[in-house]
Amino acid sequence: MEKPRVYVTRELPDRGMKTIKATFETEVWKEYAPPPKEVIVEKARKVDALVTLLSDKIDVEVFKEAPSLKIVSQYAVGFDNIDVQEASKRGICVTNTPEVLTETTADFAWALLMAVARRVVEANEYIRAGKWKVGWHPSMLQGRDVYGSTLGIIGLGRIGAAIAKRAQGFGIRVLYSDVYRRQDLEKEMNIEYAEADELLRQADFVTLNVPLLESTHHFINEKKLRLMKKTACIINNSRGPVIDENALYKALKEGWIAGAGLDVFEKEPTPSTNLLLTLGNVVVAPHISSSSFETRSKMSEMVAQNLIAFFEGKVPPNLVNKDVADSKN
Ligand code: GLV
Ligand code: GLV
Repeated sequence: MEKPRVYVTRELPDRGMKTIKATFETEVWKEYAPPPKEVIVEKARKVDALVTLLSDKIDVEVFKEAPSLKIVSQYAVGFDNIDVQEASKRGICVTNTPEVLTETTADFAWALLMAVARRVVEANEYIRAGKWKVGWHPSMLQGRDVYGSTLGIIGLGRIGAAIAKRAQGFGIRVLYSDVYRRQDLEKEMNIEYAEADELLRQADFVTLNVPLLESTHHFINEKKLRLMKKTACIINNSRGPVIDENALYKALKEGWIAGAGLDVFEKEPTPSTNLLLTLGNVVVAPHISSSSFETRSKMSEMVAQNLIAFFEGKVPPNLVNKDVADSKN
């Protein structure tokens, strides 16, 4: 039997990449920057499978040109870059890489939270810029206490829950809001449910852990930011468009809230002219929350395993559009 043909839109960490190359007839986009859309469309015409990143837009333009395409194996947990409905309509499977990155992403939410609260990045820049002229000063780089604060988690999925679990060591009160009430977790993790508006009024730190959907697009807007405490900080390592960046800039600039930690942006890469980058009370990172050596390697292995299962005629372990498998049974 001929090997299935796979197009991979970027070189992935070792483990999974080796498996894919050993199992399939594989072609990889070699550059650091993503392939242009035309290239993806062109390649998709001739393959059975695509391996994609969240920066690749996989929409009807791609699908309609890809008669042999059977599966899109996404190297990410989020898949808002893929028109899943369109894939389902055409019987194309979409898979993702959940769970393996949950803890790593929760770690990074905390890294941002701590950095914003205790001004770690400002402190680092302070020394490097030669500003440390006085050995110790009572009001030097004062931050905000993390221990004993109230944390508000918007979206108690796997990542939100992993963030909540870490809060216990800090003696933090945890509120969460979600479309689903999780009474099991409320007991187990000692967390409290609150409506989003109430959570925003009470929390000292807010983390956003929702997928990007129509209902979460610009969920954090001017109105929501005005509910928050002047001393509160917001952390986003879910998807950039969950926050209206113009409103956030205004809120930070005018002091409606105290700080922000952002790993994601409305447009990625965010331009260096983004006004948020002019503010000292903002800590930023280039969408790297899942980027540990261990996790990125596991993600690549998962991408490979989803492909292998599919081409062995099984339901891939991380199938997103389950309707496709159901319709085949
Ligand atoms: C990264 O943002 C992911 O969705 O895995
Ligand atoms: C992602 O894995 C989530 O459910 O939060």
